[in-house]
Order: sequence, then C-alpha cells, then structure tokens
Amino acid sequence: MEMVPEKKHNMRIKRVIGVVSGKGGVGKSTVAVLLAQALAAKGRSVGVLDADITGPSMPRLLGLESFRAESDGEKLFPVVNEEGIKLLSINLFHEDEDAPVIWRGPLLGGAIQQFWTDVDWGDLDFLVVDFPPGTSDVALTAFQTIPFAGVIIVATPQDYVSMIVRKSVRMAEMLKTPVLGVVENMRYLICPTCGEQIVLFDDGNGHSAERLGLPLIVSMPWRREVAQAKSLRWSELPEEVKKDAAKLAFVAESTQAPISAARSPQEGGCDCGEQTCCESCGSSTADGC
Ligand SMILES: Nc1ncnc2c1ncn2[C@@H]1O[C@H](COP(=O)(O)OP(=O)(O)O)[C@@H](O)[C@H]1O
Ligand SMILES: [Mg+2]
Repeated sequence: MEMVPEKKHNMRIKRVIGVVSGKGGVGKSTVAVLLAQALAAKGRSVGVLDADITGPSMPRLLGLESFRAESDGEKLFPVVNEEGIKLLSINLFHEDEDAPVIWRGPLLGGAIQQFWTDVDWGDLDFLVVDFPPGTSDVALTAFQTIPFAGVIIVATPQDYVSMIVRKSVRMAEMLKTPVLGVVENMRYLICPTCGEQIVLFDDGNGHSAERLGLPLIVSMPWRREVAQAKSLRWSELPEEVKKDAAKLAFVAESTQAPISAARSPQEGGCDCGEQTCCESCGSSTADGC
C-alpha cells in the first residue's frame, strides 16, 4: 500500500472533517448532514463533499436532488441548498439520479481527487466529507489526498461492525489522520408513541467507542423523524436531534486545522514547497499566497 500521502491544501478551506464508517447503512451520511447543518446553524460557512461515489445520498438528504452542478471547463461549482450548505456529489452530474456509477477503482479515486482539487468551494470554515463505507481504495485515496483536521467514526453497536470499524480506525491512523471520536447510532430507539427507550443492541459490552479506545461523541437513538425523512431540514428537526448534532459541531470546532493549512500565506510559501503561489498545489491565489 502506498503510504506517502500527497495532501494538497486549499487555503480557503479552514478545516476538513471526514465522516467514516466500517460499512454502509449505519448512518454515516445522516451524521455528515447533521454535522454540516449544526455548523451552518452556528453561522459557519460549510460545504459537503460526497465522496461516496457509488452510493451518493447527499443530494437527496440536502434537498438538492433536482439540481445540477456546473463547470466552466476548469473548475467545478458546487450547488447550494436553502440552508446555505454547498454540495458537490457525483449525482449532481447525472441526468438520472438512479444511474449507477460503473467505474473501476482508479477512476473512482480520480473523481475524489478532482472533487478536492478542481472545485471552486470559495471560502469555507468547514468542509464535511462523507466517505464511502469501509477501507476501499476510494477511502484510501480520500485519506491520502485530503488534509483532514480529523475524522468522525460512525458505528452501530453490533460486534461485527466494530471489527470492521477497527479497520477504518487503523486506516486513518496509518495515514496520520486524527480520529476525533465515535458516533454510536441506533443502539436504542425512542418509542414514537410513549417516548420509552427500547434497547435494540445490548451486547453487554458497553459502548462501541469504549471498545475502540476512542471518545464517544454522542449515542444517537433511532428516531422515526430521521428514518422517514426524505431530506433532512434543520428547521423541521426535533430539538433532541439538534442537540445531538450540536455535539458533532462542538467536536468539529474543537479540532485544530492542520498546521500547514493554518499557516498564513505571508509566513512562507505553500505546502507544496513553492515560495509563491502556486497553481500546482491548488492553493488560492485570491489570498495572495
Ligand atoms: N438515528 C437514526 N434514526 C432513524 N433512522 C436512521 C438513523 N440514522 C440513520 N437512519 C436511517 O438509516 C438509513 C441509513 O442511513 P445513512 O445515513 O444513509 O447510512 P450510511 O451513509 O452509513 O449508508 C437511512 O434510511 C437513514 O434515514
Ligand atoms: Mg451514505
């Protein structure tokens, strides 16, 4: 496995947070949207990069499935939802959102690289990256290409999922990416009629996060409002969901931007080694780098 990441910094994006899971269907995209919305609700400028190329669910979740992204031949432009969240997803380039992406690994990896280097995101406080599930080469490319301030792991409590999750945690660590903590999803459900907590997964082993040796950011219950929503609208979410989302935002805001990204342009050149800015590293010339 190629272990030397070539991470290109974008000086106009302050922090990039990845949302990662060992397998699909555990709530990764839901968590990525809630994180983005909670940050946007605090007045931060937020973008979402849908890196789950073969299972892109972000346009729908953000209410943007009927929109199409545009390009001027050099740069791709994200679309913006009514909450001010910018989005780029492969499904924003398809006429038919049901069309499958039938590409092999290298092309998929190339798409991730392009989504990072060739997109005009403007100035962002946060870019949230919804990873593909697992430790595929697309996930590897994302880890190698994008300078994450940190990643959040999403897991359901079943043991076998935790085993798969450990692989994702190891991959992040091997690629020198800080793991910020775990979101445990759907350990219990809230009864829609009486509000009682019903435990769905009780393996008697405590939280997945403890077994992974990572901080538990939040344990989110199964909620009907989340399960039934076609798209997630912040203004319509129950207060309890917003509180859980605020914990995600708190963790994201507590991260340090990677040192090279935090460096001001005047302090000496680009991360790629150039002393003047720098079309080759993808940094913004607008900042006078
Ligand atoms: N806390 C939750 N309560 C209810 N349904 C949830 C919750 N988290 C996720 N879901 C539902 O589970 C399904 C999978 O979630 P999703 O975020 O798409 O997972 P992933 O991105 O990991 O594949 C979706 O239908 C989503 O609405
Ligand atoms: Mg998803």
